[in-house]
Amino acid sequence: MVVAGGLGMAGCGSASPNPSSSNPWPPLKTLSPFPFGAAAPSAYLDDPDWVELAQSHLSQITPEWELNREYIAQEDGSLRFDAPDRLAAFCRQNGIRFFGHCLVWYAQIMPYFRGLDASLFAAEYDRYIQVVMRRYAGQMVGWNVVNEAVAEDGGGLRDCLWSERLGGGVAYIRRAFEQARLADPAALLFLNDYNLENNPAKGATFLKLVEKLLKLGTPIDGIGCQSHLDLDIADGQIRTFLRNASDLGLRIHISELDASLRRDDGKPDLRNLDYKIARQRALITELTQAFLDLPASQQFGFTTWALRNRDSWLRRPPRGDGRDSMVFLNDHGQPTAMYDAFATVVTHQVKRQTA
Ligand code: XIL
Repeated sequence: MVVAGGLGMAGCGSASPNPSSSNPWPPLKTLSPFPFGAAAPSAYLDDPDWVELAQSHLSQITPEWELNREYIAQEDGSLRFDAPDRLAAFCRQNGIRFFGHCLVWYAQIMPYFRGLDASLFAAEYDRYIQVVMRRYAGQMVGWNVVNEAVAEDGGGLRDCLWSERLGGGVAYIRRAFEQARLADPAALLFLNDYNLENNPAKGATFLKLVEKLLKLGTPIDGIGCQSHLDLDIADGQIRTFLRNASDLGLRIHISELDASLRRDDGKPDLRNLDYKIARQRALITELTQAFLDLPASQQFGFTTWALRNRDSWLRRPPRGDGRDSMVFLNDHGQPTAMYDAFATVVTHQVKRQTA
């Protein structure tokens, strides 16, 4: 499928007519053979354009940060849930799956934990998981139980407050998954991380970690591959990672998909726009095709880390320049080159299956 009209321009979020109800493009959730989601903060529920697009395109929503400790946990150890509750209600009212992100993350601790002695520390670690998960039990399809456990360079595991205080190594990860299974036995439990396809060493360490956890009997159901894609990932690397990951037999969630036109390493960017859009197309084509080649039972779904370009964290200070395009809908809710590449692959796949 090729969507009519200058997609390169649409992809850049430049001015284009508001499509609203006369939108001629198939909604992503209708096009997609597997669940299609986006991350969002609850504030977007006050934006009628976002709500209309979400109802039309999404079969799953992940709270962008309001299920993280940064939002939930208060200084005195108490917890607040107003924002994620709003998102949960919106999902229930609209028949949209709700996905949880995240319970344990090295980057997010609660100051309250630092002062606890060993036995209270472990009890409070468990209590947090129990209280947060039980609140959404029966609704939540799955959770990122542990986020970003592998070190940046892929050389091993990160050290963090949780690993230091709960026995070192994988002990804090196992404990989190065991608690999560007890708290909501129906929720699918994921280990989530980034740069898995971009940095093969990190991808390999991540898969070894999952293998080790499985051997230890840890209740893991899925792999969350964030897929904040770098435009210059070598061809074939995404496919290789997904194929290796699928050997473990778990579900795979492309959990935070975006592909920024900007580079974030501070070096001058000499790549022209046509090249960059072509790279976005190539990456989404490879990702979608490789995902569809997984056994259907392992295709948990795609989540883009924003519904429209203007909603993305990559547009917010200090990162964005207001012109970046990195997801499937532009600022006006119209398809970008990434939507088009995705639509082309899934449409051919459906044709192949029905031929
Ligand atoms: C980001 C959000 O998009 C930001 O708005 C938030 O302030 C910080 O987190 N990996 C993750 C996500 O697991 O939670 C991050 O999202 C992006 C990197």
